[in-house]
Amino acid sequence: MAIQSSTDFDFDDIFYQDNELNLSIGHADYEIYPKEIIEFMTDIMQNGNTSLHQYTNNDGLPRLKSILQKIYTYLLGEHVQIVDKNIQITMASSAAIYCSLKALVNSGDHVIIIDPSYPFYARIVENIGGVAKHYPMTYDPIDNKWILDVMELEQLFSPMTKAIIINTPHNPTGRVITESELLSIANLCRKYNVIAICDEVYEWLVYEPKKHFKFASIPGMFDRSVTIGSLSKWFHVTGWRLGWALTGNSKLMADIYLNHMCMVITSSTPIQEATARMLELEYTKLIATGSDGVCMSGSPAIDDSQRSMYWTKTCRQLQAKRDQLANILQDFGLKPLTTDAGYYIVADCLDLCRRLDLSDYVVGAGSGSGGQQQSSIKPYTMVLAFIRWLSSHVPVLSMHSVESNRCTNTGRLAPFYIRDILCKDCSRIPIRPVGLRCCRSGIWCDTCAQTGTTSEPIPCLCYVETVPKLPPTADTVDPKIKRILDTAV
Ligand SMILES: Cc1ncc(COP(=O)(O)O)c(C=O)c1O
Repeated sequence: MAIQSSTDFDFDDIFYQDNELNLSIGHADYEIYPKEIIEFMTDIMQNGNTSLHQYTNNDGLPRLKSILQKIYTYLLGEHVQIVDKNIQITMASSAAIYCSLKALVNSGDHVIIIDPSYPFYARIVENIGGVAKHYPMTYDPIDNKWILDVMELEQLFSPMTKAIIINTPHNPTGRVITESELLSIANLCRKYNVIAICDEVYEWLVYEPKKHFKFASIPGMFDRSVTIGSLSKWFHVTGWRLGWALTGNSKLMADIYLNHMCMVITSSTPIQEATARMLELEYTKLIATGSDGVCMSGSPAIDDSQRSMYWTKTCRQLQAKRDQLANILQDFGLKPLTTDAGYYIVADCLDLCRRLDLSDYVVGAGSGSGGQQQSSIKPYTMVLAFIRWLSSHVPVLSMHSVESNRCTNTGRLAPFYIRDILCKDCSRIPIRPVGLRCCRSGIWCDTCAQTGTTSEPIPCLCYVETVPKLPPTADTVDPKIKRILDTAV
């Protein structure tokens, strides 16, 4: 089936500019991954036996499945009996999601998606002939949280519903779905005979004091769910492409196995081996310290270096980056929303959009011609224009929270959101909060230099508001800004 091209990725003209800090794509730009996993891989390449360079079992390397079985037994609790057959190793979690949905959904069947959502869910559902039914969460600025009303969610359930995708921790909002919400969703799954696809790829990135709760640990839900994990987000090696699916439902697992085998036969053996070794290392710390990385009473004495789980250290590191990026966004005039977990921070850009003339950045608007009247630009188009504007003035690329466009159709979710990723080297962001604070009060940045708050002029809002509008191409960027950009990164 042909897939429609999507406006979500219509940034091709600005995606690949040199020197650009890309805050829109979900991978790190520094060595966030554990050094041990690289050492394991090096060892496998140099000293591994011949079989590690050949196909392994279709359902995955036994050593990897064995350690995942232990980890999930620990996480789900002893009452959930996990056996080898409950686990399928896949080519990244993307393949796990695809194979699970394909196993469940026939043409015309419904799959419920909670928006804003990871865009590939809807694409996969549509690609396999299903119908995506979107439930839009709304952001409550007073309570600073995304509202998930389970009674409203129930309105989408029907005899046509085959699956609901539960993404917790959630991309892009960073929301952690609570235990009581998951219990209510579990009741709906029982009532309507629906399977939950639990995309928990960000489970090791939950920021204090929030806690992740596993849907499959609810009595009866291990058989009624597929839990998805990903090496991309567990150890931040997104290029290695490894993931897995876990379910107690043997019929469903048989279909997932078949789908995956027909697609790629099996996943990469050396990558599975390196992952298994890394997980074994992490597991010893996990059982010694507990999943929050704190030493449990009565656990065997371990030294400090062992005590720190990679997962705990990385989570704290990203929590600090979340705060740093939130400050940067705020100083730039955006409104970051609460982020409790995951890779991303969502910010409201409505106020800033209103202060800028974005008409020349609307796709299709004639450059320099004044383009479309700003008041007539649709919100979604305006946010895309804002991202183009941003990319033309500072070498930072954000991603429109595409999913909110979908929500706009339902009239529910304010569409003025952009999504930025946390796991980047924030020092590369060429925006000086101090300078911008001056700019926000309407003083040109040279003043900042004069007052000694920053050593050089930086592109700033008051400046771009006063110069003639700039067409969004590298060739025609104002030389002054270009010079600043060239030296900024
Ligand atoms: C919620 C969510 N699920 C799945 C994936 C896909 O991850 P993988 O690299 O394992 O395919 C992503 C990637 O960003 C994601 O954000």
